[in-house]
Amino acid sequence: MSALEAVKYQRGKLEVLDQLRLPHEFHYDPVSTRQEAFDSIATMRVRGAPAIAIVASLGLAVELHNNPIAAASDSELITRIDEALDYLKESRPTAVDLSNAIAQLKAVIRTTEGKGQTAITESFIEEAERIFKKDLQNNLSIGDFGTQWLQSQAGASAEQQISVLTHCNTGALATSGHGTALGIIRTLHYKSFLKHAFCTETRPYNQGSRLTAFELVHEGIPSTLITDSMAAALFRTKKTENNIAAVIVGADRVVRNGDTANKIGTYQLAVLAKHHGIKFIVAAPTTSIDLDTKTGDGIKIEERKKEELTQITGAVVGSDGQVDKESKVRVATADQRIGVWNPAFDVTPAEFIDVVVTEKGAVEKGPDGTFDFSKILPERW
Ligand code: MRU
Repeated sequence: MSALEAVKYQRGKLEVLDQLRLPHEFHYDPVSTRQEAFDSIATMRVRGAPAIAIVASLGLAVELHNNPIAAASDSELITRIDEALDYLKESRPTAVDLSNAIAQLKAVIRTTEGKGQTAITESFIEEAERIFKKDLQNNLSIGDFGTQWLQSQAGASAEQQISVLTHCNTGALATSGHGTALGIIRTLHYKSFLKHAFCTETRPYNQGSRLTAFELVHEGIPSTLITDSMAAALFRTKKTENNIAAVIVGADRVVRNGDTANKIGTYQLAVLAKHHGIKFIVAAPTTSIDLDTKTGDGIKIEERKKEELTQITGAVVGSDGQVDKESKVRVATADQRIGVWNPAFDVTPAEFIDVVVTEKGAVEKGPDGTFDFSKILPERW
């Protein structure tokens, strides 16, 4: 079984899986300029906080490798790269990984100022490649720390398997591999600690049914898809039978007190989990942590176009039940004149989150109801 890859990269060449065509079609778009990277992100052909940062970083790296900027001086080159990064930053606003990657790239190229333009360009490309590789290592560590936490808190083991619910897509497709929340689920499965994974459809963009369900089936993980509106009924009727121990989600931005922006629908799951005595886990690399924003009130939530609610794209299913993978239809699912509110993310207050699992360890909530990330990020605190 081949691993799913959101991006394929070698120096000078980047290909990005068009996730809008999944699960029916596997098609990689070449991305070789900042504009193509911006477009892939803004049109959601690539999504998920880490993957967005990776495509922006590597997209510009490929452009700089193939068409180095001809500048009059080192400082002019740095200014021109900064401008390209500032442009990419506008592609999507909520996920902080992109801003964190941009800040990191800007800092690194400054360390080579005075060493010549080839050295500056090289330092940019190497840092973009490091960000890409590090993300996979981060996710493997998140998988281990999350599993250890579930062993200690929920007794997860091969003898006492647990079931979990996840929302949106946080897997290999949203990252450089393994995944964050889905990474914990993968690790639980590899250790035979997982009984069953439930995933939500994740309206309106269906990252759960289009991407997570696809990843779970691809990996042979025992799993069931539900609509977002079925979570309460799932907890009420199937918690005991399935030993549902945790909701595990990713994050687009975890702020200083632990308030977490993630895909719309996350907050309601956190409220439900608390009511039903189910642990609520946020799995995110430290690149998703924003210490400059104090609480969730400071997070800018992206609002998207109304057609995401009133129309849907899919493939034709024949009368024999077979999906015609070549076909593509766009269907209206509502009166097109209706007004729509379509926030892409919501904020889950820290009080509903039990633990934030990062690649540096699991951070539990303190007695004051907030998270203290100074232990894992002393250098950024
Ligand atoms: O709008 P999307 O599809 O980019 O949103 C993705 C999510 O919200 C994910 O759950 C989140 O980015 C975590 S990615 C590991």
